[in-house]
Amino acid sequence: MAKMANSAPLHVIILAAGQGSRMKSRHPKVMHPLAGVPLLHHVIASARALQAQGIHVVVGHGAEAVREATPDRDLHWAHQDQQLGTGHAVAQALPQVPDEARVLVLYGDVPLTRPATLTSLTDQVDEQTLALLTVDLPDPAGYGRIIRNPDGQVSAIVEQKDATAEQQRIREVNSGILAASARHLKRWLPALSAENAQGEYYLTDIIAMASSEQMAVAVTQPETPEEVQGINNRIQLAALERYYQQQQAIRLMTAGVTLADPARIDVRGTLNAAGDVSIDPGCLFEGDVELGEGVQIGAHCVIRNATLGPGTRVEPHSLIDGAQIEGPASIGPFARLRPGTRIAAGGKVGNFVETKNARIGEGSKVNHLSYIGDAELGKGVNVGAGTITCNYDGVNKHRTEIGDGCFIGSNTSLVAPLTLGAGSTTGAGSTITKEVAEGELAIGRARQRNISHWSRPGKKDH
Ligand code: UD1
Ligand code: CA
Repeated sequence: MAKMANSAPLHVIILAAGQGSRMKSRHPKVMHPLAGVPLLHHVIASARALQAQGIHVVVGHGAEAVREATPDRDLHWAHQDQQLGTGHAVAQALPQVPDEARVLVLYGDVPLTRPATLTSLTDQVDEQTLALLTVDLPDPAGYGRIIRNPDGQVSAIVEQKDATAEQQRIREVNSGILAASARHLKRWLPALSAENAQGEYYLTDIIAMASSEQMAVAVTQPETPEEVQGINNRIQLAALERYYQQQQAIRLMTAGVTLADPARIDVRGTLNAAGDVSIDPGCLFEGDVELGEGVQIGAHCVIRNATLGPGTRVEPHSLIDGAQIEGPASIGPFARLRPGTRIAAGGKVGNFVETKNARIGEGSKVNHLSYIGDAELGKGVNVGAGTITCNYDGVNKHRTEIGDGCFIGSNTSLVAPLTLGAGSTTGAGSTITKEVAEGELAIGRARQRNISHWSRPGKKDH
């Protein structure tokens, strides 16, 4: 018989209606984040990787919150008002699925299944074959057990609460993930009965139905049990988060990154690193981050949506968000680079310096205690300690332009809009409000006056 496996359209049904009461949370379980991304969104991403024709999400508890937090426009939503069981849940989405489709059932609280594992499942499905993802567990308690007949064929799944003592000893369990033809599901699901220990319509009962119709049940196993690990409480969530982070650390080290402690790095997004990058403990990477060759990141830095060019050094406790840094540059310790910061080669941003929407030119230095916002610094500029750009007048933001080779005295207030010509200088403690021409020295401060023969007030006699 010719296989229809690769030609039949694939539809994915994601079950996400359950309450997740063991999370003890106001938020729906599937919205809790793993690596910064809601559990459900990991599952949707896996479904997308399979190039499914339709992705259907069955929601119930907290349905509105789930839909609001999931803006993907192409999803099909199905509502399950009462959680009457996994079979009932799949039935809510099935009317939107064409008869000729292959259906893959995923759980919204099982976030880390690899697309390759799912493909090996969906590849096997046709009109004569149902595919099941099972796993052997040392402690199978709580899971549905896989029942095989004497010749090894899967004939049924028995839930823990319905299993005999002998069946409870079986360690091959149902991951919950399965794939079957929509045509068959549409026949089987209405025939489910809720006469079991939990009074639920079990999706798992379709295995016995398929088996009694002489259909084949193909079994696939994941590479690691974590691929099918579901989240029921915050302890499992934390454990799976650590597993995920460990995988990231292994990937980075394999690619040539030195991690001072692979157990103390967190990646919430995509971190790409060239060779000989080194990262000290306690760093967090979010969004899309690119690290060029030889970049060194000190302890306890947070780096988000940023590109750090080759040879850049980030000293401890720096926060880099939305910045583009050409290497080699030197950042921190305790620097805060905000979105729109661009730093050229040889640039230096030191401790307690905040930058925003600012270009720091080649070899320019802002070493201590400054705020540089909405500014353009040319090459070789030196900004003295305590200097700030006064970029905001309470309503509008204004720009400051500082030409090549300027020397800004310590504690200068640069009141924008303002232009300082190349090679100009400001005196320490100045408030500069007017344009300074090339090479000029600008001093904007009260002149020092010394008063001699002056005495401090003393205590009054009573
Ligand atoms: C289910 C399987 C069991 C398997 C286990 C793996 C059934 C009957 N049992 O059991 O064989 O070993 O998963 O974790 O399928 N859901 C709904 N609507 C419902 C019921 C559940 O959307 O009416 C969703 C839940 O939100 C959850 C998933 O389906 O994401 C699984 O439901 P759960 O109640 O956790 O199933 P288990 O009893 O663990
Ligand atoms: Ca479960």
